[in-house]
Amino acid sequence: MAPIISVTNLSKTYGTGRKALNAVTLDIMGGEIFALLGPNGAGKTTLIGTICGLVNPSTGSVTVGGHDIVRDYRAARSMIGLVPQELHTDAFESVWDTVSFSRGLFGKPKNPAHIEKVLRDLSLWDRKDSKIITLSGGMKRRVMIAKALSHEPQVLFLDEPTAGVDVELRKGMWEVVRALKATGVTIILTTHYIEEAEEMADRVGVINNGELILVEQKAALMQKLGKKQLKLHLDTPLDVVPAALAAYDLSLSGDRIKLIYTYDTRAEHTGITALLADVRAAGIRFHDLDTSQSSLEEIFVSLVHA
Ligand SMILES: Nc1ncnc2c1ncn2[C@@H]1O[C@H](COP(=O)(O)OP(=O)(O)OP(=O)(O)O)[C@@H](O)[C@H]1O
Ligand SMILES: [Mg+2]
Repeated sequence: MAPIISVTNLSKTYGTGRKALNAVTLDIMGGEIFALLGPNGAGKTTLIGTICGLVNPSTGSVTVGGHDIVRDYRAARSMIGLVPQELHTDAFESVWDTVSFSRGLFGKPKNPAHIEKVLRDLSLWDRKDSKIITLSGGMKRRVMIAKALSHEPQVLFLDEPTAGVDVELRKGMWEVVRALKATGVTIILTTHYIEEAEEMADRVGVINNGELILVEQKAALMQKLGKKQLKLHLDTPLDVVPAALAAYDLSLSGDRIKLIYTYDTRAEHTGITALLADVRAAGIRFHDLDTSQSSLEEIFVSLVHA
């Protein structure tokens, strides 16, 4: 199957001299959910902006549905819906008018039945006559998605759809994205959250400093990233990890006051219960504990210095 989006050797240097993309090559297959993961300033928005024709590439090429985004801009652009990172909406327009108008911008004939379907799918139908200004942040974001879907694009870009969004709303957004995938839309989303990539994506790309440093099926990536650490805050520092606990993957913090257990969250047994029993049996006392996921930052460090 031919990819729906093909990015070849794409680089972007802004007028400021900042190189935001460096020789990115990537194929997106029709119907997949692709998550682009990367820290602030990695180049995610620049990559999306370039594919959507908002940012001029310095070198390299992009095709969408076989249409070159520069030579054949209109055809390429009409296949794409974009929900930008920064939300702009016309505060005093109604939901219905905003979404319908957006369709018109792409030169598509009116299709109230489609607009109705989109609004129903996004649970916005009963607010169709509300002014945007009266909606909650989460609803506004869904209106932006409705706008992006108004012209029946085959590919939808979501740039940080859940940044600054509460947990419940984030889950709601995931459901919306899954439902869209079920209708056959290809989805590319950017995120800082590994959890989000894990929940949503079929494939994950990691971008850092303008370079796509890894593209993997989610399952394979999660196996690499699925480590967690349990830290026991000890009552008294230890000199070494006690021999009685040698069977566990343990280390001591620099100040020797925390015992750190690294475990695989995807293993059938994390070993935590047994560890705590053995810690107790070894006479080691602790007064607090916490767990942490390997952070994206840490993962980048390990990937970049691998
Ligand atoms: N219009 C611009 N002019 C100059 N530099 C820019 C411009 N837009 C982005 N940059 C720079 O290009 C780099 C990549 O920015 P980009 O917005 O693509 O990153 P990002 O991965 O989307 O980050 P974030 O997670 O913060 O949204 C950054 O160093 C940024 O400062
Ligand atoms: Mg961005």
